[in-house]
Amino acid sequence: MIGTVRAVTATPTRIARALFAPLAPGYERWARILSMGQDGRWRAHMIEAIAPRPGDVALDIAAGTGSITRRLQEEGAMAISLDQSAQMLGPAIARGATGVLASAEWLPFPDARFDIVTFGYLLRYVGDVGDCMTEVTRALRPGGRVGMVEFSRPRGIWRPLWWIYTRLVLPVAGLLAGEGWPEVGRFLGPSIEEFADNYPPDRLTLIWERAGLVGVRYEHLSLGGGLVMWAHKPEHSEVGGS
Ligand SMILES: C[S@@+](CC[C@H](N)C(=O)[O-])C[C@H]1O[C@@H](n2cnc3c(N)ncnc32)[C@H](O)[C@@H]1O
Repeated sequence: MIGTVRAVTATPTRIARALFAPLAPGYERWARILSMGQDGRWRAHMIEAIAPRPGDVALDIAAGTGSITRRLQEEGAMAISLDQSAQMLGPAIARGATGVLASAEWLPFPDARFDIVTFGYLLRYVGDVGDCMTEVTRALRPGGRVGMVEFSRPRGIWRPLWWIYTRLVLPVAGLLAGEGWPEVGRFLGPSIEEFADNYPPDRLTLIWERAGLVGVRYEHLSLGGGLVMWAHKPEHSEVGGS
């Protein structure tokens, strides 16, 4: 199918494949260090916002080594880890997750399959953010919740410090972290900045609403370095009501 081939070879997706292939072994430790210990807080905030319940069926897209998947499971949800990188999924599967190797842009599931869909650090790597959100919404059942964690860019006096951290400290830290991390150290700052310029939260909110989600809310955490966003798919009774 021509559409599938085009999506899978889209540039951001290819960049992500190459970038993440060598990172799995030390990913969680280095992600914690490079986010200055904040990434766990952002995930916890998102999980609290979408409030998984025991027995919920959840899909964690761009699951990587399974950090968000495990939090969903701790709340009693039955969570599937989906990622386009077999290398990144490896540790998640080794720790008991059900792994699905696929792209976020073409989810291999029927409509309305999930009570919850989560994704952390995904939208900077997809060809079309709106199409991806439409696909996410398709996979959610009416009333289902979606939650996202993403890097963001602090404001005010924190921005120059953030710039120094991402442009000078991260590239050097990347050199020390081992195979694959020098590229991450150089890539991350400009990637976050480009995404923040192109998709400020109010624009992302509109994109999520156009994809069919309602009740979109977001919060900046850690002086603006993290963005958590959540929403739900309307129940049939919410659609075209009043
Ligand atoms: C920074 S890691 C985040 C892992 C995890 N969500 C977390 O919070 O630690 C980003 C993951 O997104 C995956 N990814 C990037 N683009 C993707 C796509 N189009 N479809 C599925 N996974 C993708 C990468 O392979 C990588 O494992």
